[in-house]
Amino acid sequence: MDQEKVIVIDFGGQYNQLVARRVRECNVYCEIFSYRTPLQEIAAMKPNGIILTGGPNSCYEEEAPTYQKELFELGIPVLGLCYGAQLMSFLLGGRVERAPVREYGKTKVQIDGTSPLFSGVPKTTVCWMSHFDYISKAAPGFSVTAHTADCPVAAAEDVKRQLYAVQFHPEVLHTQEGTKILCNFVRGICGCAGNWRMDYFVEQSIREIRKKVGNGRVLCALSGGVDSSVAAVMLSKAIGSQLTCVFVDHGLLRKNEGDEVEAVFGPQGNYELNFIRVNAQERFYVKLAGVKEPERKRKIIGEEFIRVFEEEAQKIGSVDFLVQGTIYPDVVESGLGGESAGIKSHHNVGGLPDCVDFKEIIEPLRSLFKDEVRKVGLELGIPEYLVFRQPFPGPGLGVRIVGDVTAEKVRIVQDADAVFREEIACAGLEQTIGQYFAALTDMRSVGVMGDERTYDYAVALRAVNTVDFMTAEAAEIPFGVLQKVMGRIINEVGGVNRVFYDLTSKPPGTIEFE
Ligand code: XMP
Repeated sequence: MDQEKVIVIDFGGQYNQLVARRVRECNVYCEIFSYRTPLQEIAAMKPNGIILTGGPNSCYEEEAPTYQKELFELGIPVLGLCYGAQLMSFLLGGRVERAPVREYGKTKVQIDGTSPLFSGVPKTTVCWMSHFDYISKAAPGFSVTAHTADCPVAAAEDVKRQLYAVQFHPEVLHTQEGTKILCNFVRGICGCAGNWRMDYFVEQSIREIRKKVGNGRVLCALSGGVDSSVAAVMLSKAIGSQLTCVFVDHGLLRKNEGDEVEAVFGPQGNYELNFIRVNAQERFYVKLAGVKEPERKRKIIGEEFIRVFEEEAQKIGSVDFLVQGTIYPDVVESGLGGESAGIKSHHNVGGLPDCVDFKEIIEPLRSLFKDEVRKVGLELGIPEYLVFRQPFPGPGLGVRIVGDVTAEKVRIVQDADAVFREEIACAGLEQTIGQYFAALTDMRSVGVMGDERTYDYAVALRAVNTVDFMTAEAAEIPFGVLQKVMGRIINEVGGVNRVFYDLTSKPPGTIEFE
């Protein structure tokens, strides 16, 4: 896509993805590259601006990540953040050293003079600081544009060379005027018009897909999750009935989910595509019978999924393209962009069927963050309840049933989960909780119902608030709502006589039970 672009050079900072997301919020396309990316490559991309991220090192140390000084001579505006600011100052002749006081957290910053970077920002503002080292002397040609009580150079700039350095993190939401500062850089200083818009993206992508696919046939594994749904609809808009979607119902979906997916994508749905629903519940239950160990359950479900998909693909015959719902964080986290080399190999990549006969992969969402995928979904007219779906694990209820999986346990957890979701919606809490669901423990205990002794299962309710799903806190659901859920589950879901609310945060717990 021929468009304006800002490049983030990643020095290993924990907020690298955040920087790119914030820039995109200013409607400017942004990509992350490792500091190991050669200067020629960066220059060849002709970026409108470059941002250097933070990082954990001290730039004056021998082994510290660095960059060629010529980066600052390309005539492209550069903004250094934290480590990036220190490195810029250090390489250009300023002084960086260990600060007498470590600054961490929300810090009052005083803006000095006028700077295009701080246009519209109050003279005193709160910024997020996290550094041991500081710039004790700005580089020659630079003027100091902000300071704090402990940091003499909280920001510096050389307007003539279009070089800007800030010690704080504008990408972190705790920095009050962070988005404005980043917008001032990318829209003002770099001169970007801000043409990164989802309607434009959709239009361009559809055009490109048509060109690439021609008369070819395309196969898509549709899970009903946000990413694969958006990818499928985009493909369907581009190439209509040349697309075949295979939806495998493994019997571990939420209540009615299979029918909901079919209603949207099937013959009665809104799209002109070939939809194949495979009801494979039985074969999954057979494979899972008696298996208790979580990792083995996950493996079995994953492998069986691929087998079913392959069988269907073979019936269809050879296809030219396979669609994948890979999104940008998968790319970055798989070590293909930025510095976070190989944190995890994403399931979308790891789960590729080997024996499906196809020539090429199409990944229409590869450059998008999750919130952008949702915007694209809305742009494509996908129903909101699909677009704003909570994450749902690939192995489905298989990891929400502790111990072995049976059809009966699936029924229990589906029904309990449906009650929980209904009551959360009824209490108007849907938008305030990150992820919530019911799980089935492997515990049975004695209870009394009517005048009868019961010996039934315990359901666990899980609801968490989280920013990135890496850490999470149990959500504070009003006690009355929890009681109502408990009452309904005991009364309406056979086989349950106890309901727990899981208070565990992550860490030490994980969000799912297995
Ligand atoms: P955990 O349990 O690791 O979950 O704290 C973090 C987030 O990831 C989701 N999750 C998965 N998503 N395939 C997926 O696509 C999986 O195997 C999987 N396991 C967990 C989970 O729902 C939560 O949002």
